[in-house]
Amino acid sequence: MGGLAESLLVLFIYIAPAMVANGTPVILHGPPPIDFGKRMPDGRRVFGDGKTWGGLLAGITAGTFVGIVEWPFLGAVHIAFASLASVGALCGDLFGSFLKRRVGLERGAEAPVLDQLGFYIFALIFLYIAGISFSIYAELIWAIIIYALHRLTNWAAYMLGLKSVPW
Ligand code: CTP
Ligand code: MG
Repeated sequence: MGGLAESLLVLFIYIAPAMVANGTPVILHGPPPIDFGKRMPDGRRVFGDGKTWGGLLAGITAGTFVGIVEWPFLGAVHIAFASLASVGALCGDLFGSFLKRRVGLERGAEAPVLDQLGFYIFALIFLYIAGISFSIYAELIWAIIIYALHRLTNWAAYMLGLKSVPW
């Protein structure tokens, strides 16, 4: 195997922990809110009640666990990269909420692209800072897949009653 197929697989191995880290808080979360209810000078919440310490810790733990599962194939150092990608994913999610609050969007309001790809872009940036980079074609193809997957899984979570909105 070579070329694009291999690049897509390599990126998947590195980004799977971030995908799991991003999805886990929908199911596992709990107070207190990360911003502890604090507001910015604009009068709006820093992140809002949709971002909790329980969700953050559950996401990082679950993403790191994916690294442990992948460890026999990639070596123990991958556990560190899985943690890093997970932290990046959740920072991206927080950054998205921070931006949404600043432009006046309430918790749960839709921000197209930011909601679906913020975590992915941040995970890629965190890995890049640690010296891991990927084929730009693989990054773009995964961006499209993740966008579609995010829409689908959030709709499913809504249908299952896990979320109050389908995005
Ligand atoms: N969640 C959490 N802690 C996090 C991330 C997510 O508890 N760090 C939980 C919350 O219950 C949240 C749900 O996962 O409602 C879905 O996440 P998301 O769609 O990102 O949050 P929203 O409620 O839409 O809030 P926001 O508008 O800030 O994105
Ligand atoms: Mg949302």
